Amino acid sequence: MSKKSVFIVSFLTFSVSIFPQKSIDQKVDALLKKMTIEEKIGQMNQYNDDWTSTGPVTVDNEKAAQIRNGQVGSLLNCLGTARVRSWQKMAMQSRLKIPLLFGQDVIHGFKTTFPIPLAEAASWDLSAIELSARIAAIEASASGINWTFAPMVDIARDPRWGRVMEGAGEDPYLGSRIAYARVKGFQGEKLGSVNSLMACAKHFAAYGAAIGGRDYNSVDMSNRLLWEVYLPPFKAAVDAGVSTIMNSFNDLNGVPATGNKYLQRDILKGKWGFDGFVVSDWGSIGEMINHGNVKDEYEAALSAITAGCDMDMESRCYKNNLEQLVKDKKIDVSLIDDAVRRILRKKFELGLFDDPYRFCNADREKAALNDPEHSKIARQMAEKSIVLLKNENQLLPLSKELKTIAFIGPLVKSLKQNKGFWDIDVPNTDSTFIVSQWQGLQNKVGQSTKLLYAKGCEIEGNDQSGFAKAVETAKQADVVILSIGERRDMSGEAKSRSNITLPGVQEELVRAIMATGKPVVVLINAGRPLVFNYITDSVPAILYTWWLGSEAGNAIADVLFGDYNPSAKLPITFPRSVGQIPIYYSHFNTGRPATNDEDRNYRSAYTDLSIYPNYEFGYGLSYTTYQYSDLKMTAKTMNVNGKIGVSAIITNTGKYAGEEIVQLYIRDKVGSIVRPVKELKDFIKIHLNAGESKTVTFSIDKEKLSFYNQRLEWVAEPGEFDVMIGASSADIRLKDSFELLN
Ligand code: NOJ
Repeated sequence: MSKKSVFIVSFLTFSVSIFPQKSIDQKVDALLKKMTIEEKIGQMNQYNDDWTSTGPVTVDNEKAAQIRNGQVGSLLNCLGTARVRSWQKMAMQSRLKIPLLFGQDVIHGFKTTFPIPLAEAASWDLSAIELSARIAAIEASASGINWTFAPMVDIARDPRWGRVMEGAGEDPYLGSRIAYARVKGFQGEKLGSVNSLMACAKHFAAYGAAIGGRDYNSVDMSNRLLWEVYLPPFKAAVDAGVSTIMNSFNDLNGVPATGNKYLQRDILKGKWGFDGFVVSDWGSIGEMINHGNVKDEYEAALSAITAGCDMDMESRCYKNNLEQLVKDKKIDVSLIDDAVRRILRKKFELGLFDDPYRFCNADREKAALNDPEHSKIARQMAEKSIVLLKNENQLLPLSKELKTIAFIGPLVKSLKQNKGFWDIDVPNTDSTFIVSQWQGLQNKVGQSTKLLYAKGCEIEGNDQSGFAKAVETAKQADVVILSIGERRDMSGEAKSRSNITLPGVQEELVRAIMATGKPVVVLINAGRPLVFNYITDSVPAILYTWWLGSEAGNAIADVLFGDYNPSAKLPITFPRSVGQIPIYYSHFNTGRPATNDEDRNYRSAYTDLSIYPNYEFGYGLSYTTYQYSDLKMTAKTMNVNGKIGVSAIITNTGKYAGEEIVQLYIRDKVGSIVRPVKELKDFIKIHLNAGESKTVTFSIDKEKLSFYNQRLEWVAEPGEFDVMIGASSADIRLKDSFELLN
């Protein structure tokens, strides 16, 4: 190297060290100093775009003017690069040119629709779930979006609640693992990559415990239950680096979550050190007036900002009141600065200050929304989500040599129903981009198999006039496949149901078809656990297909014919009756436990109902069978800071290769707070060829044995613990115990 170049290199190194790149925090502070109070408050406002009602760009003048004045921080429901770009251009006309954030409910896919989250949770396949979120992020970020209001990580134990479809079910451990995977999937390797979205864990907190399963309802629960069951998935999301949290509509023990300081400031931003920002739910700041917790919008804004809510989704309480609150010395401007700092930091991290249009490349949008690889991944995810509930005499898988198959039911030919509740009509794309169940079957069978169709009845209503044709069709077939269930929008936001049996006359249709004596396979399509005892008791083969998304038809056909061997297991208990709700596996034993249906007298049971659910948490069959053997523990005692290894051998004893989800449950026999009869503490999904054996190992440490004691301390108490390895929460195959020493 010449002297001159040595000089240049050392000068460069020197200049880098004396003029270091400004950190994001420094940039945020510098920008904050330039902002007027009005501009600061502007960052805390999020408005809805108008696409739902009007389609193509309609510019609301008031909104446009506010954006140009720097009075809006974010828009939601704005679809497509062209439209996003047009709003962003307006933001670039504002004094400080602060770019907008664009949020959207990208819940289970964007253009390529994936199975609803509850269905994906049934896969217990964390890498597949992460990949599903990744694909959604790739598509949405190519289409202008940089923020998804997902994942919903609310634990839900009441299938009457319509939003049970949007979460990962009833269990805090499984829910936490899935929350972590989804956040990683949406956000990708690093916020700031052009295909990563900010994730938003919602709804903070305890929204899933709405009394009676009625959406938006109050929640009343002990602090212990909150910490042990409802908060862990949020903590997992924070640990995964989630950028934002949405608070919730419900009140928690009388304090609306949106104005709840304990939740947002003390736990989330305090104890957990969350450094992203909190957005309200739609209008939830203003709704605190309806709750009866504040008098007017002025007080609502005061309550929300004090409690730690940084952004106002659509209530306009912040816009209209924050400045006055500062003038009246009700709040210090530092509260506003803190909120704005959090929001601006994310805008910097997303790279929006470097290029406000970085998510608005129309060529990239076109390519990402037409990538055939995404459909393949959606098909695999859908296969993994289908739960085989019953398979008497190995009716499934069906032979590809069958001469005639009758495919009957109101859901056979529908397209859009397969998409489930949170579908997105992406502009300028083909909205029939869905494989119907009929199409899937046609794609699967060869020329020599005849497919017959009859609708039988509608999803709802009393009309049985189609039964006769359905019965005639069934009589001509070797096998009947019946596709029944809910309408896709019977579960979802504001879709609570008091009666969760099959709507309309569908059960009567099943009875009429069963009377033909033909072998029948039922596909149940729904966003929640339904009650279908007649089908459980009488129909030989049942697949729970939830809503599987764009590739539903192909995935269902793959499972019906054994090209995919079902492996999913229920992430939520299926009750036998609404009267059993809430029903979940990790209940306490009580002083008078009912251990079987013959012994219910003076027991913790109903006199008129079985103690058992229809199907338990963790349940799901396969076309093959698995044997569990050779439970080994590395020790019978454990020191508090030690570990115990647990292993077992799992053998595929059937004819088909498959995947088994091996579940580890633990019971703390005696606790200063009563402990559940069992709690999921780990699981592993393994692939086994026919005849193959594999050893699975788990490691038990203090963390897996801990709980919140009366003082809300996270402790493991010495004493005896049961260790159970099973194929479901009720199908425990291997059991042992150990002692935790003092
Ligand atoms: C209300 C829902 O509760 C929330 O989950 C959703 O993200 C917002 N609406 C925005 O659509």
